[in-house]
Amino acid sequence: MLRQTLTIAPAEIARQLALCDQIRALLDQRPGQKLAYVDTYGCQQNEADSERLRGYLARMGYAFSPTEEGADLVLLNTCAIREHAEQRVFGNVGALTHTKRRHPEQVICLCGCMARQDHVAQRLRQSFPHVDLVFGPQLLWQFPQLLLDRLTSGKRVFATEDVPGAVAEGIPVVRQNRQKAWVSIMYGCNNFCTYCIVPYVRGRERSRRPEDILAEVRELAQAGYQDITLLGQNVNSYGKDLGLGVDFAWLLEQVNAIPGEFLIRFMTSHPKDAGARLFDTMAACEKVAPVLHLPFQSGSSRVLQAMHRGYTREHYLSLVDELRARIPEIVLTSDVIVGFPGETQEEFEQTMSLIETVRYDALFTFLFSPRRGTPAERMPDPMPKEQKSANFQRLLQRQNEISWEKHQRYVGGIYRCLVDGQGTDGRLTARTDGGRLVHLAGDPGCIGTWQNARITEASTWALFGDVVEG
Ligand code: SAH
Ligand code: SF4
Ligand code: F3S
Repeated sequence: MLRQTLTIAPAEIARQLALCDQIRALLDQRPGQKLAYVDTYGCQQNEADSERLRGYLARMGYAFSPTEEGADLVLLNTCAIREHAEQRVFGNVGALTHTKRRHPEQVICLCGCMARQDHVAQRLRQSFPHVDLVFGPQLLWQFPQLLLDRLTSGKRVFATEDVPGAVAEGIPVVRQNRQKAWVSIMYGCNNFCTYCIVPYVRGRERSRRPEDILAEVRELAQAGYQDITLLGQNVNSYGKDLGLGVDFAWLLEQVNAIPGEFLIRFMTSHPKDAGARLFDTMAACEKVAPVLHLPFQSGSSRVLQAMHRGYTREHYLSLVDELRARIPEIVLTSDVIVGFPGETQEEFEQTMSLIETVRYDALFTFLFSPRRGTPAERMPDPMPKEQKSANFQRLLQRQNEISWEKHQRYVGGIYRCLVDGQGTDGRLTARTDGGRLVHLAGDPGCIGTWQNARITEASTWALFGDVVEG
């Protein structure tokens, strides 16, 4: 089979890097260190993209500012998943008129998933004249070219057209954390769940070549990274476009075989593509963390079908059984949508009963938010808002109780965890291998090391304990 995915030629990335140097020379004509502020919204995929945008910015000579005030360049990497996310971005973009008034040279850029929506681009054009550059996620690799166009033409630049997604290797990366790293293994999504904007704004599914992924993980392991998360909207369809006969379980084995002491996490798994092969591989790979994020979205098979999810409630529950039979200690987390158009009260009760049956360690609950251009936007939606909100609150409350109960089981036990920082209260923060947050009494010298923690207390959101010496 021919490889369908468009790969950006290395010479093209080299050209982008040369443009970074040109921008640096241009910026050097004005005195002082140039500062960039990068503000990231949305999912880990966007976090990972921002690290590459920072890589380019560093190459252009920018240092990083923790705030937009006084920054020479502001870059908002946006999310379009729900109305609320978009409103926050518009609010923050609006507020930038003030910072730009105080600092007229400021260059304001907006990229990410919102930028790929025509109505957003139109609104930015008409109502936000202080925004200089807008580009969609598929054009991230061209950021140096686009910024140079803006700086030299004196005109606003909008690169928001629907271009086919590609895979670009060799973009520099400035990572935000010294222990944890994101590694995108694929981009885009082919699933077109009827509520979801992602396939429209991120384009079709495309996988990075295994050798590129493995080289990146090897480098991270050698640099001492201890917690590596493989990213994709549906990691279980990794490799399908490559025509190499490789799949995600194979990739996990290859990553697991890389020398070094690090944990492997991944997200997201789609229930329609996850199964025994994945669970067996997770169980057999000692570096793969005992945690799975397996979004169920609804407990009703009828709603799942209307969502175009490709599995039933029964199939989902059988997956959970299979998984727990192989990895009894698995930490299981999920996403759910309340108030999908046409969801009846009875169907919502099936979601309640599913969380009762599965007992997730943590659950991300979302109220349905209509997204422009998706099929669900046009579906009849008779349930009153108040009823949806009441359902949402009930679900949240019950899940909080379950999370609390599940956390109590840790009390009295000793768990390995990676210490990753210090909170404002002076306590250390850490994560168990299963990804549970732990607040620890201990020496700040422990940051960046694995420690055994004795858990003395637990709340809904976190565990509390002490470092066990020796
Ligand atoms: N690719 C991942 C999900 C990415 S989006 C997957 O398929 O699991 C993260 C979560 O946002 C989704 O799991 C879903 O629960 C929620 N979500 C997506 N679109 C939404 C919408 N229009 N309204 C409310 N929640 C939504
Ligand atoms: Fe959206 Fe569905 Fe793709 Fe996830 S799998 S990104 S929910 S379309
Ligand atoms: Fe948001 Fe785009 Fe991620 S819409 S959730 S940032 S893929």
